[in-house]
Amino acid sequence: MVPLCLKVLGLPILIVSSLSDPRNLEHLLKTKFNAYPKGPYFRHTLRDFLGNGIFNADDDIWKKQRKTASIEFHSSKFKNMTTTSLLELVQKRLLPVLQEPVDRSISIDLQDILLRLTFNNVCMIAFGVDPGCLSPGLPEIPFAKAFEAATEATVLRFVTPTLVWKIMRHFNLRK
Ligand SMILES: *[C@@H]1O[C@H](CO)[C@@H](O)[C@H](O)[C@H]1NC(C)=O
Repeated sequence: MVPLCLKVLGLPILIVSSLSDPRNLEHLLKTKFNAYPKGPYFRHTLRDFLGNGIFNADDDIWKKQRKTASIEFHSSKFKNMTTTSLLELVQKRLLPVLQEPVDRSISIDLQDILLRLTFNNVCMIAFGVDPGCLSPGLPEIPFAKAFEAATEATVLRFVTPTLVWKIMRHFNLRK
């Protein structure tokens, strides 16, 4: 079985029989990748958040960025940097944060902690900045909060008529 992409009233609808089947993923991401462009509706809806970055590009713009990223990701310097960064984050930040609830026999929100680890790690690799998401006491990080709000607002655009969110954006109205 293969995935099927349909357009209903101009909206791209992806029907995927089963993503747990590796053959379907291969079809979608490799064999027939060119048959599944993000398309103008998707790119337009995400543009304020993702610009023309790799996650929001098709065709030549995508290819150029994919090539650049691929060269970077496969360099030994990059692999060393990401490994060193993650090891340091786990040892100096994650383990102490996990030790405290053990010592005090209290429960923790593991999902929140792992999300903080992932976000912190990406910030260190992509921006070279440690936002401190795993600092003692797990403080609220303004940048992480803003990023989450932007993600949520962007997702809401997909269930809001385009004209409505455009009017809201024009008048700077928030949800
Ligand atoms: C990264 O490179 C440095 C310097 O060459 C080396 O000392 C270190 O062991 C490397 N780290 C990893 C994780 O490969």
